[in-house]
Parts: sequence; C-alpha cells; structure tokens
Amino acid sequence: SQAKKQQLEDDHTLMEQVARYFQHQLRSHPNSQKAISYLKGRGLSGDVVKQWEVGYAPSEWDGVLSTFGTTNDRIRQLIDLKLVNQNDSGKQYDFFRDRIMFPIRDRRGRVVGFGGRVLENDSGPKYLNSPETRIFHKGQELYGYYQVRQNNRHLDKIMVVEGYMDVVALSQFDINIATAALGTATTPDHLNLLMRSTNHIVCCYDGDNAGRQAAWRALENALPALKDGVKLTFMFLPDGEDPDTMVRKVGADSLLSMLNDDALPLSRFFFETLLKEHEVGTPEGKLALKAAAQPLIDTVLGDNQRAMLAEELAKHTGEYDRFRLQQDIAQANQK
Ligand code: GTP
Ligand code: MN
Ligand code: MN
Ligand code: MN
Ligand code: MN
Repeated sequence: SQAKKQQLEDDHTLMEQVARYFQHQLRSHPNSQKAISYLKGRGLSGDVVKQWEVGYAPSEWDGVLSTFGTTNDRIRQLIDLKLVNQNDSGKQYDFFRDRIMFPIRDRRGRVVGFGGRVLENDSGPKYLNSPETRIFHKGQELYGYYQVRQNNRHLDKIMVVEGYMDVVALSQFDINIATAALGTATTPDHLNLLMRSTNHIVCCYDGDNAGRQAAWRALENALPALKDGVKLTFMFLPDGEDPDTMVRKVGADSLLSMLNDDALPLSRFFFETLLKEHEVGTPEGKLALKAAAQPLIDTVLGDNQRAMLAEELAKHTGEYDRFRLQQDIAQANQK
C-alpha cells in the first residue's frame, strides 16, 4: 500500500541519516580519537574507512536518541529499526554504544542495518549486528555485495568471507570481490543473490575446526539453490588466519593465486568431509557413507551438479564399478 511504501522510504532515509551521523562522530566527537586509533591500529587507511563509510557510535546512552528522536513518531521508528532499545520500565537508550560502525547496504544501496565492533576485545560481544527489522533480513543480505557490484555487474568470482573487517581489508588491497554473511550461515537466498552476478563463488573460511564446520553448514544450505553452471569452491586458510590477516601477510597477488589454486571444488570438500566420518573399507562403511551423502545429494537443484555428486558417490560405494563393468560388457557385446 501507499502508506507502507512511504514508511519504507522513511525508514531507509532515517537509516541513511544515522549512518551519516556515525560517520560524522568518527571525525568530530570529542572522544573519537580512540576509535580512530583503533582503526589505524587495524591497518585501515583513511581512504578505505571513508569508502566503506565506517563510523563511530559514541559511548553515550542518547546519541542517536536525542539527535533523531525529535517526535514520538520518530522515537517509535528508532525503536522499530532497533537503533534504540526500550526496557521494561519504558526507559529508552541507544542500541549501539562505543562501537566502530559498519553500515550494511542492501543490493539496491539502501542502508538496512549496522554491524558494530567493540574497541576492546573484553567488553561485551565483539560484534553487535542490528537485529531483524521490517527492513533488515540477515538471511537475505550480504555485507559488501552492493559495493562489489558497483564496479562490475558481472564478476569472474565473488568471495564469501566471515567478517566485515575481511571485506574492508581486502578492498584496501584492491580485492573488490568480497562479501560477508552477517554472522549467520550462508543461506539459499544469499546464494541466489550471488548467482545473479557471478558463476563462481568462493567461500573462504579459517582452516580450523570451526571454519570447517561453518563451511559445511554453508554447503548444506547452498545445495538446494545451486544451479548448473555455477562453480562453488571452498578455500581454507591456515589455522589462525582470516582474509584480513592473510592479505596483510602474503599480499593480494598470493591470496588471489591461493583462491585459484588451493580452493577445493564442491565435490572434493563434500567427499573429503564425509569420508573422514565414514570408512569405506567395509560394506557397512559404504552403506553409512551412502546414508549420509544421498539425502544431501538429493537436495541439489542443478541436475548436472546432482548427477556429478551421485556419480562420485557411486565410485566410493563401489556401485560405480559395477555400473561401469556392465556398460563395458554391453559395449564389448556390441562389437
Ligand atoms: P575482527 O576480530 O574484528 O577481525 O573480526 P572477525 O570478523 O575476524 O571476527 P571473527 O572471525 O571472530 O568472527 C567472524 C564473524 O562472526 C564476525 O565478522 C561477525 O560477523 C561474527 N561475530 C563474531 N563475534 C561475534 C559476536 O560476538 N556476536 C555476533 N553476533 N557475531 C559475531
Ligand atoms: Mn526476516
Ligand atoms: Mn577460527
Ligand atoms: Mn579478523
Ligand atoms: Mn575472523
């Protein structure tokens, strides 16, 4: 309806203004020096901070509230957009305080949410993301997607990394192909969004157990959206590294060659993981592998991708050999 459309427009306008406010605080708030020092300490240039519109939410209870909450309707809107909290006794206060702020833009460039990072690692959750609102759905948004597409509508590949800092640091090294899921596992919606702009998606994770687990969750979620003709690969970084630390250590060229040479194709990561859990040296093991793999393979959207994985599964369970043998016999008989 018209009223609803108007409200959405108002929401996006307000979010944009709040993003500008955070950006402005980083330059002009009396206590912003520690935020600037923090960003410098992370190796970020002034240019890249500006480019990504990084801001600072001051350590105040009513920075956003008093600046934007000029009417009751406005305060209501700030609460709806989760920029202001209201506790049980009705007290209102800013949601983001004393944090480095990353505005999150949707694919059309509208600010729909924020990620906020603490300056010291021991004060509260490291990252605070805007909760879901009427304009912000984490499962549908990817940090950096809008910016990645600014340069190019179609990209040879797009990286999916874990964090805001990874996206921003990579762009400082002229790698402008990175997006981040917002503290959630990659969803089918994410994959659909990515597949609009590329035929090659590289998911980039830590090489440790947590990273492998996150990658597996991403894989499970991706399969039902995975179209034929789209390459999905998985890059595991050395333990303890993320794209931010890695690019600073080895440089952009090395990181890009790693993406090309070392990323595991979907089928490889899929079977490597399952074969770690199921010994196929016995018939029982083969059965267990099949029981684990087949339901996942059945979810794959693309017919060719599904057939590829099914064929690979057959190789591991031995059915492939029998099938090939029958084919060979049939062929021999034709001659
Ligand atoms: P830096 O420490 O700033 O380099 O961040 P990071 O991105 O390297 O953080 P990490 O690898 O620990 O986590 C990856 C991503 O998970 C982050 O970018 C966040 O999106 C999310 N995340 C990490 N810690 C938290 C947290 O405490 N709360 C929430 N909601 N998300 C988090
Ligand atoms: Mn939602
Ligand atoms: Mn890790
Ligand atoms: Mn990091
Ligand atoms: Mn990290």
